[in-house]
Amino acid sequence: MKKVALHDKTFVLFIANADIQTAIDKVAQKINAELAGERPLFISLLNGAFMFTADLLKSIDMPCEVSFIKYASYAGVHSTGEVAELIGLNVDVKGRTVVILEDIIDTGITIANLLKELEHLSPKTIKIATMLYKPNAFKEDFTIDYVGVEIPNDFIVGYGLDYDGLGRNLKDIYTLEK
Ligand code: IMP
Ligand code: MG
Repeated sequence: MKKVALHDKTFVLFIANADIQTAIDKVAQKINAELAGERPLFISLLNGAFMFTADLLKSIDMPCEVSFIKYASYAGVHSTGEVAELIGLNVDVKGRTVVILEDIIDTGITIANLLKELEHLSPKTIKIATMLYKPNAFKEDFTIDYVGVEIPNDFIVGYGLDYDGLGRNLKDIYTLEK
């Protein structure tokens, strides 16, 4: 099995790039069908969602805009339970169809926080798309409209996701070796 070493830990291959692309394509087709006729504003959460955003948007077939926002909630392999805004939103979301793009939804705190902020700005509607979702870690009650792949509650890296800064460049997704 393919392995990678990052800092002090070893990770093993978990989801191959071809399977990631298939899942992303399904998400794109669902968005294309459900938001046809709209001009959505995609809001991508940096750093992790950069690869998902790039690949997803290539399969979106309606006029759309994209903007980026940056939060941090992880230190090492555990959620800190706190979210700090690093880079704010600089586009007007009033009356817009907003689609939040996230790499992974774990506890859901990051998105819950963003939803609170966005709701004050009166968008027409807010949809949530995530490449990966850990249902067993999820503690919030918002609806996730588009999910690429559901995964167990393990720490993963690759395809945008990092372990203390490393691993974002990997084209496949790896899980912590047990
Ligand atoms: P949440 O706020 O607990 O839902 O966490 C979401 C954020 O934590 C994601 O945007 C990721 O940046 C990070 N995260 C959650 N799970 C993992 C993981 O397994 N590997 C790397 N980063 C993760
Ligand atoms: Mg993230």
